[in-house]
Amino acid sequence: MLTKPFKLILFLSIAVAAIITSCTKSDVITDPTSTILNLPASVFNYANISLPVYLTTAPALNEINTPGSNQITDNAATLGRVLFYDKNLSVNNSIACASCHKQAFGFSDSALLSKGFAGGLTARNSMSLTNARYYPDGKFFWDERAATLEFQTLQPIQNHVEMGMILDSLVKKLSALSYYPSLFQKAFGDASVTSDRISKALSQFVRSIISYQSKYDDGRSSLAANQNPAAIDFPNFTAQENRGKQLFFSPQLACAACHGTETFTALEPKNNGLDIISTDAGVGGITNITAQNALFKVSSLKNIELTAPFMHDGRFATLEQVVEHYNSGIKPNVNLAPELKDPNGNPKQMNLSVADKGALVAFLKTLTDQKLITDEKYSNPFVVK
Ligand code: HEC
Ligand code: HEC
Repeated sequence: MLTKPFKLILFLSIAVAAIITSCTKSDVITDPTSTILNLPASVFNYANISLPVYLTTAPALNEINTPGSNQITDNAATLGRVLFYDKNLSVNNSIACASCHKQAFGFSDSALLSKGFAGGLTARNSMSLTNARYYPDGKFFWDERAATLEFQTLQPIQNHVEMGMILDSLVKKLSALSYYPSLFQKAFGDASVTSDRISKALSQFVRSIISYQSKYDDGRSSLAANQNPAAIDFPNFTAQENRGKQLFFSPQLACAACHGTETFTALEPKNNGLDIISTDAGVGGITNITAQNALFKVSSLKNIELTAPFMHDGRFATLEQVVEHYNSGIKPNVNLAPELKDPNGNPKQMNLSVADKGALVAFLKTLTDQKLITDEKYSNPFVVK
């Protein structure tokens, strides 16, 4: 038997639940998005962001991996934003893309390995999504096993650790949610939900995440077109930051041999002399650091200050440790890049002074783009987060 006060509580909670359900229902009929999503009346601009000239002309222009079949539109990127933050993409409604790619951390994760829908851990450190569009071979993941971003964006959804979904079930599930028909309609011309459209919209949102408003960008933009940013001190930099920039672009350190494009990436995967004994569990136990020749994608260094821990296995907690790796910790490897070898073919010893190591870290911090990580158009649009 239930006691009287207990019965009352039970009755009240049923009544409250009934009221909430009926309110949500009627709101859904009048405006499917208002109670669930906080989207602007006119869409944000994703397609025509006004970028500095060095990101819209060669060589950066030729590094863009957007396929002709998936040009960015504001409406499809908006759908991509909603999908990116929607936990319904996981089998038990617990994980969204954004759970492992957090805006505040430059769209990466502060955890060494990220937790999936059932608490299992990913095999590698989550990657920053900043500037993903500027990578000419268009391959994704640390070992570049995804040939395109459109292919990549469906992988975490189906991954047994990450989101655990089957695409057919996802399509049915999303079709039944009140807010998707109108979003798909606006994005693609009709309300039908397909996995191809999910992949396209997610890819558009990811490709719209471009960093161009860091302290570095301010300095870069202040130079004349014929001035080389590697060779000229930036007027808005401190002496320490300019020293760090000089070191970064110097042939002696050769950071720019691999992080040398306008978005601080390399054009192909490289080996940077990490010790092969690592926490790297490989992917699904199939690949490991030796099986893939220890070559890893060099993702953009933009916002690097925010994306700790560092490297594919998250082995370094701080930028100081990263710099010390290059200074004194480079290990031999058959694929070690020539830029990191001394004239005898051995791993380079850089012998940097304490001041120079500090300057390099100070320079890396000029790549932080506060505007990108606080811009509402990349933020969680769900009313209940
Ligand atoms: C459980 C955590 C987790 C979830 C959920 C997740 N990711 Fe990731 N993501 C990762 C990890 C870890 C990597 C690196 C994996 C690797 O290389 O093996 C990664 C890599 C990526 C990359 C590759 C970036 C590059 O430069 O190569 C993209 C793009 C990406 N994720 C997008 C997404 C999207 C879109 C979603 C949602 C559909 C998503 N992720 C969901 C953890 C996650
Ligand atoms: C031979 C190419 C190469 C050179 C030279 C090089 N790097 Fe790297 N860098 C890489 C690769 C490859 C990775 C990713 C490696 C991995 O995770 O296994 C990386 C990763 C990093 C990361 C961490 C990125 C992340 O998302 O976790 C930082 C920071 C970094 N490098 C800074 C530097 C600095 C500073 C220098 C110069 C002292 C430098 N690099 C020189 C290839 C290079």
